[in-house]
Amino acid sequence: MKDIRKNIIYENIKKYFEETSISDIKPNSWKVPIGGGFYGADEVNAVVECYLNGSLSIQEPVIEFERNFSEYIGMKYGVASNSGTSANILALDALIKNGKLNRGDYVVVPSTTFISVATPILQLGLIPLYVDIDAYTLNLDLNELEGAIKAHEPKCIMAVHTLGNPLNMDRLMSIVDGTDIQVIEDCCEAHGAEWDGKKIGSFGAMSTWSFYVAHHITTAEGGMVLTNSDELEITLRELREFGRDKSYSGKRYGITSGNLVDFDERYTFDKVGWNFRMADAPAAFGNQQLKKLDDMIDIRLKNASRLIDGLFECKMISTFPHNNDVVKNSFYSFPIICDNNVSRNDMARFLESKGIETRSIMCGTLSDQPALCDEPMVEYGGLVDSRMIRDKAFFVGCHPLLGDDEIDYVINIVKEYLRGL
Ligand SMILES: Cc1ncc(COP(=O)(O)O)c(C=O)c1O
Repeated sequence: MKDIRKNIIYENIKKYFEETSISDIKPNSWKVPIGGGFYGADEVNAVVECYLNGSLSIQEPVIEFERNFSEYIGMKYGVASNSGTSANILALDALIKNGKLNRGDYVVVPSTTFISVATPILQLGLIPLYVDIDAYTLNLDLNELEGAIKAHEPKCIMAVHTLGNPLNMDRLMSIVDGTDIQVIEDCCEAHGAEWDGKKIGSFGAMSTWSFYVAHHITTAEGGMVLTNSDELEITLRELREFGRDKSYSGKRYGITSGNLVDFDERYTFDKVGWNFRMADAPAAFGNQQLKKLDDMIDIRLKNASRLIDGLFECKMISTFPHNNDVVKNSFYSFPIICDNNVSRNDMARFLESKGIETRSIMCGTLSDQPALCDEPMVEYGGLVDSRMIRDKAFFVGCHPLLGDDEIDYVINIVKEYLRGL
C-alpha cells in the first residue's frame, strides 16, 4: 500500500509539471530575469523521495552527486558543500592544513569577480593580492599576473572563469610550472566551459563550484570542491565535517589523543574545522539537474549566439565573442560593455524600466568594496581595466528559462536605447 501511495505522489507531481509552463517557475515578475532554476518533475520527485525514505544528510544522494559531478568534470574526487563560498573556504583551508599555505601569504584574486573569492582569503588570515583583469575576456590579465608574481611572490592563485568564459589555463599552468604556487580554479560561474577541449575545473590543484539558483545547474544552495589529490580529499572531508579524523571507525571509546584518554571517537576532533555539509535533498535535486546540464548549456549557447549576432551592428557597445576551437564559454550570463559615449547606469536603468533585469559585473573592483577597502590587501598596478568594467559594464541573462522571443526583446530594447542617444 505504501508503495502505491508513493507512486501516486510521484505521478501527481509529474502531472503537475506537465500542466506547468516555464512562467510558473520563473523566479519573479521580470520579463527577462537575470537567472533562475530550470527544473521539473524529475528534480522535485527526487527531493520528495529523500524525505519519504528517511534520506536526510550525507547518505547516497550526496555520495552519488559527488561521484557524478567529479566524473563529469574529469576529476578523481568531489567533496560537496553547502555553497560555493564554503567550497572556497574549504579549498584554501585544506592548503593551509596541508602546509602549502601559511597565514600572511599572498593569494592572487582577479580584481573583478564575486566577493566570495576574496572573503575566504581574509577569513583565513591570508592576504588578497588584487591583479587586473583583461577587459575583453573579463578574466585575469596573465601579463599583469606575471608581474604580480615577480613583485609579491604569492603562494596561491584563485583562477576565476568569469561569467562562464574560460581563463587561458594552458598559459596559467605554464606560468606556475616549476613554482610552488597552488592554483584553485573558481568555476562557480563556468560549469561545462572548456579550454582547448579540456573541461575547466580539471587543471588546478582543486576547483570550486556553486550550485546556487542562477548557475548552470542548481541545488538551490550548494557547492563542491574537486581534486585529484588523495591527501587534499581527506583534508577537505575532515574540514567539511567539524575537523573529525576521516579514519573514524565508529569505535565508541578507547581513543587516546590530545589530552583525551580512552575517549569516545565520535566526539574526538583533530582539526579546527567547519560544518559545510550538503543535505541529501539538494544533492538528489542536483543529480537530476546534472543529467540535463549539457542540454541546458546548449540553450545558453544558442541564446548567447543570438545576442551576439543581434547586437553585432551596435558599435557603441561590445560583448563576448562567439566560441571558437579553443574557447568554449558556457555563458553564465551575457555582458554588455558600454563605450565612453554611453552611460552604463542610464542604459541599465532603461532596460530595467522595460522589464529586463541587469547586474553590474559582479563586485566591480573588489578592493573598492566597503567590506574590503580597509582590510589587508595589495593592489598590483592601477587595476585600470577592472575599474573601467566597474563603471561601464553590466550583464543580462541568457539562461534556459529564456527563449527566442525574450532574447529578441533584449536586442530590440538595447537598440532602441542606443538609437535614442
Ligand atoms: C566566482 C564566484 N565564486 C564564488 C561564488 C559563491 O557561490 P555561492 O553563492 O554558492 O556561495 C560565486 C557566486 O555566484 C561566484 O560567482
